[in-house]
Amino acid sequence: MPVKITRLDIEGFRSLRKVSWHPGDLNVVIGPNGSGKSNLLHFLELISVSAQGRLGKYIQSLGGMDAIVWDGQAASIKFALDIQSYELFNDHYEMELEFNRLGNSYKINNELLTGLFNVKNTLNEKVIKYLSRTNQTAYIRDAVKNTTISVKESLVLRGESILSSAVSPFDDEMDISRTQDNLASITIYHDLRTDKDAPIRQATITRFEKRVESDGQNLVSVLHTLYTSDRDFKSDINLAMKAAFGDDFEELVFPPASDQRIQLRVRWKSLKREQSAADLSDGTLRFLFLLTVLASPDPPPVIAIDEPETGLHPSMFPIVAEFAQDAAMRSQLIFTTHSPQFLDAFTDARPTTTVALWEKGETVLRTLPKDELDYWLQRF
Ligand SMILES: Nc1ncnc2c1ncn2[C@@H]1O[C@H](COP(=O)(O)OP(=O)(O)O)[C@@H](O)[C@H]1O
Ligand SMILES: [Mg+2]
Repeated sequence: MPVKITRLDIEGFRSLRKVSWHPGDLNVVIGPNGSGKSNLLHFLELISVSAQGRLGKYIQSLGGMDAIVWDGQAASIKFALDIQSYELFNDHYEMELEFNRLGNSYKINNELLTGLFNVKNTLNEKVIKYLSRTNQTAYIRDAVKNTTISVKESLVLRGESILSSAVSPFDDEMDISRTQDNLASITIYHDLRTDKDAPIRQATITRFEKRVESDGQNLVSVLHTLYTSDRDFKSDINLAMKAAFGDDFEELVFPPASDQRIQLRVRWKSLKREQSAADLSDGTLRFLFLLTVLASPDPPPVIAIDEPETGLHPSMFPIVAEFAQDAAMRSQLIFTTHSPQFLDAFTDARPTTTVALWEKGETVLRTLPKDELDYWLQRF
């Protein structure tokens, strides 16, 4: 596991009044509708977007601060997270967005990034402060000179993280760039559009793309790239399709449409004509989407998928679970679900399972110990 979040504390965001979560490599968050599962994923998205320097726009897209602070009454939104990368670095990052009720706006009044180090040849640990900020006053560590420098006040944006702006393309020094890159790359997949006009069903411009974007609509492009250039990926997809649809599945083909465009088609042994993406069922498209995200040879460090079971036949769950178990060696994975059947499909190794419940106006997260999980699953 290259990079993972080992602890995430959130306060004041939507139904997450105050939660603390210790995710593992492979996570399933299960709970009834309205318990706050999607809110948790939206929060991960907020962290990612903040590391990209697009926090202001994102909060606007969620309806502004007033809509997203807990019950309209929390005074701020806060988070703290621990990230472990390559078993070597333990970084800690935290931030607080203070809610300005009058302007329905916010300002970042606290931001801190530290790293924990083993001092060479000793058992001692040392904390290094990479970045710190109180309101408009900010400091970052100059790793080359090994000193702390203050950031010009005019460069400190009230509503955007220092983390997003303190990175320069020439900065090979690990610390700040490493965390910025890890957090900015967190990818969240919410509901995948598969209606008949969805871009996913159309012929697409050929591009060399290896990562499925968060709305999933570049699936065909990514599938084409990987399926035609990576033998392992192709054989993984073929095996999964055969497991789901039987030996009648032959292969995926990508005939040219017009000019630069290609189409996705499925070749079945029993049919003379290949079936086009426009005619595939929602379930088949969603299944291909999940397989592509999970089988990707170069995935983002953290992947979260909201209710992957949507639209899938339950017989596909164990195939997705198997892909997930394999993918969890390359990325930290987080699934939300309201389906015990989906959770039950993970037979080889139980994922870290967290139950989300809505209690007295707030989300409560409880991660189940392994033995309790089996009992819990039996009860369903
Ligand atoms: N600002 C807020 N304060 C408190 N609760 C909120 C806020 N915004 C949304 N919620 C609550 O969050 C819940 C929906 O959470 P969601 O993550 O969509 O649930 P799930 O994905 O588990 O179905 C609803 O109960 C809603 O009332
Ligand atoms: Mg939801």
